[in-house]
Amino acid sequence: MRFRKHLSLLTLSATLVVAMSLFIKRASAQEATRSSSPVLPSNTLNYESIPLPPQYANPAVSNTDNTPADNPITDAGATLGRVLFYDVMLSANDTTSCASCHQQANGFGDSAELSTGFNDGLTARHSPALSNARFYANGRFFWDERAATLEDQVLMPIQDSVEMGMTLDELEIKLAATSYYPALFDEAFGSEEVTSERISHALAQFVRSMISFNSKFDAGLVANPPFSNFTQQERAGQQLFNSNRARCSQCHETTAFIADQARNIGLDRNINVDLGAGNGRFKVASLRNVALSSPYMHDGRFATLEQVVDHYSNGIQANPGLDPILQDNAGRPIRPNFNPQERAALVAFLNTLTDQSFVTDERFSDPFPLTVPTNVTLRQAQTTAQSTFLILTSGFLLTTLTLLAVSEKSRMRLRWRRV
Ligand code: HEC
Ligand code: HEC
Repeated sequence: MRFRKHLSLLTLSATLVVAMSLFIKRASAQEATRSSSPVLPSNTLNYESIPLPPQYANPAVSNTDNTPADNPITDAGATLGRVLFYDVMLSANDTTSCASCHQQANGFGDSAELSTGFNDGLTARHSPALSNARFYANGRFFWDERAATLEDQVLMPIQDSVEMGMTLDELEIKLAATSYYPALFDEAFGSEEVTSERISHALAQFVRSMISFNSKFDAGLVANPPFSNFTQQERAGQQLFNSNRARCSQCHETTAFIADQARNIGLDRNINVDLGAGNGRFKVASLRNVALSSPYMHDGRFATLEQVVDHYSNGIQANPGLDPILQDNAGRPIRPNFNPQERAALVAFLNTLTDQSFVTDERFSDPFPLTVPTNVTLRQAQTTAQSTFLILTSGFLLTTLTLLAVSEKSRMRLRWRRV
């Protein structure tokens, strides 16, 4: 009687263990990894002939376009740029791509204050959002504007000892040896030759193609009457943004919300911690999609837009490089002291610059699909581990079963004898 009870219990647990192992095997087999080669649509996506809407085609914006005459955007060039941007092969140990630190969902910024490079090192500054990089008249890049052009800039992270850790010579050899780059270079530049100049041109084309113009703000520009799609709060925020009290639009200019030069906004009294482009001045990316690209500023010090607004409200520090726009007539930092409604209105307005179609646009998305593992050694290792697990558990179960049976038998014998 008792023996049977044990037996059924044991059968039950054995079934459970087998079911569990099967489940583990299935789960590990389904674990997706990134494909090692890109999958691109048969018709090349359109980058070169996207007509700019009026709010970008107008001279205030179009005159700031830093596209050089020798590197216009082409469909094949930007497609190659897209593959390069998402390819971990650009790093020394195949772990890190441009998109590791410039994520589409974050408006091509990074949600971390500082970004993690290929060898787990941290970058010195926060990774900026990239939309509208094309519209910056002096054409210089990085928070401190140390890159003279975007073509120069895009090769720097590849060679940076924290970010990707490659040399350009190594990279050319590595890319030429892949199954997919020679054809992509051929389509973009007319021959299969992989050169760092071509890598630079393709990456720059891809970054310049990232223009965002489908936000609530853009819908407001063409609404009749204009901005009738805005809530009252968003309209109040817009007015404040453009007012001489807040002065935001004097630096975040035009309908593309771009800057004209690096400026010092009085983040710190002591500017020697990071002099940026000189005198504590920093470049600022377009405010398009800013709600998606927290944290903020060159060091990622502010986690929320409310904190940013609070800085402009009463946090601006006097320092030797403070921008004249942020000083009052007596040369002191301005203190607009926004009330809670104004603060909320400014944030609501900044939220109207979010463009969901930009952060989900296939043209800017990861071309390396997720797949089940194809790596044979990995699979073999998994199978060996699972078989060992199964053998060990079955062995353990059998031993327990035998031991129990033996003890039950002897107990029954004992009882017989008593009887
Ligand atoms: C490990 C993280 C990391 C990787 C990888 C990385 N970046 Fe960056 N990127 C940053 C950081 C941090 C900055 C700001 C550095 C500074 O200004 O000093 C930056 C700045 C930039 C800028 C300047 C934007 C502007 O408006 O001035 C561009 C453009 C850019 N990166 C493109 C790329 C491209 C293209 C790649 C791949 C080849 C890449 N990044 C790889 C972190 C990264
Ligand atoms: C004097 C020029 C100037 C004025 C005026 C100004 N800004 Fe800025 N803004 C900048 C600069 C420069 C930065 C980048 C500073 C840094 O990172 O060190 C910046 C950064 C920002 C950021 C963070 C962007 C990011 O991606 O990290 C936001 C948001 C912002 N400003 C909103 C505003 C608002 C709202 C106002 C008005 C209340 C305003 N700005 C007024 C120049 C200005």
